[in-house]
Amino acid sequence: MKPRKLVMIPGPTPVVRSIQNQMGRETVAFGDLGFINDYKELLKDMKELWKTEGEVFVIAGTGTMAMEMGIANTLKSGDNLLIVSNGFFGDRFIDLAERKGINVDVISSEWGKIVPIEDIEAKLNEKKYDGITVTHVDTSTGVCAPIKEIGEMLKKFPETIYIVDGVCATAAEPEYVDDMNIDILITGSQKAFGVAPGLAIVWAGSKAMEKRKELGRIPEYYIDFDKWLPIMQDPSKYFATPAVNMIWALKESVRIIKEEGIENRYERHSKNAKAMQAALEAMGFTLLADKDHRAVTLSNVLYMEGVNDLEFRKILGEEGVVVAGGLAAYAGKMFRLGHMGNIDIHDMVSTIASIERALYRSGIEVELGKGVGTLMAELLK
Ligand SMILES: Cc1ncc(COP(=O)(O)O)c(C=O)c1O
Repeated sequence: MKPRKLVMIPGPTPVVRSIQNQMGRETVAFGDLGFINDYKELLKDMKELWKTEGEVFVIAGTGTMAMEMGIANTLKSGDNLLIVSNGFFGDRFIDLAERKGINVDVISSEWGKIVPIEDIEAKLNEKKYDGITVTHVDTSTGVCAPIKEIGEMLKKFPETIYIVDGVCATAAEPEYVDDMNIDILITGSQKAFGVAPGLAIVWAGSKAMEKRKELGRIPEYYIDFDKWLPIMQDPSKYFATPAVNMIWALKESVRIIKEEGIENRYERHSKNAKAMQAALEAMGFTLLADKDHRAVTLSNVLYMEGVNDLEFRKILGEEGVVVAGGLAAYAGKMFRLGHMGNIDIHDMVSTIASIERALYRSGIEVELGKGVGTLMAELLK
């Protein structure tokens, strides 16, 4: 008999039954009064939990579309944008912005490290930047950028729009839009929310909304804040068909978040990540991210000598766990393990035990139970 497969890639993450049930409901008309009310409540909760007096947009799309939406509504051709890149997804902003005719400067870190704040500040002092992008957690490296401290520093540059990519962080790493001086926060449904892929989410603080006004008519249509704002303020209105079942699914995810308490959720992610990372190290793996800047949402795990990536991931799949491969220069050299969203202790114990079995079957000397023991000792602290 084949084991169940746990999808432990860094998104999509496991979708719990109560969220699946919302996706499996009979779809209603988007003018249905019950649905309109659900959409309204979801938007209200999203603004309250991520603490903004500004706006939130929840529409059909992916994280990349949310990135594009953030840029399109705050910057125009000829503007200067500073891209702070800690890896593959930070770099994604380059092509995206250049296609709009935005002048791009990039400040990058070595993979596994962050760009120091002093370097960002020095760059901002060189010329006037209309915007800056920072990827909160770059999924390619497992590094978490200090977005709170960057937001604080950016108070010295009030004309610069602060855009944070929270795709691999939101609902797991603390993010408070107004308090952290964030102007645009973007994310998707499929990672720490534990919902299937399909929704793009963008918070826009009051400065970003002012910026949108200044831009007048923008070239983009579907992702224009102006098209969606009337709907976000009154979901009985129509611009483009809302993803009815996905909105219900996200609403259920937010209900789970509220039941847990968002601060407790952040703490749980931090504790789980420390335990998973200690277990991986106990088995002899090395983690790519510097210890001081490790994400709580995933681990980027470098193989020890003698492990073939494809073979290892195939065996791990047979043992019941799916992980993702490394990106760019790290393809073949590491695997990426998600540990975010609505996963529980059973998922974590099974994952670490499966990795031990896969190592053993790959011919690596591993003390069976070492990883699981370390995980449990850390979780019981
Ligand atoms: C940090 C980050 N930004 C952006 C994206 C792109 O999101 P999507 O694949 O939903 O378009 C991803 C996807 O993994 C990501 O991890």
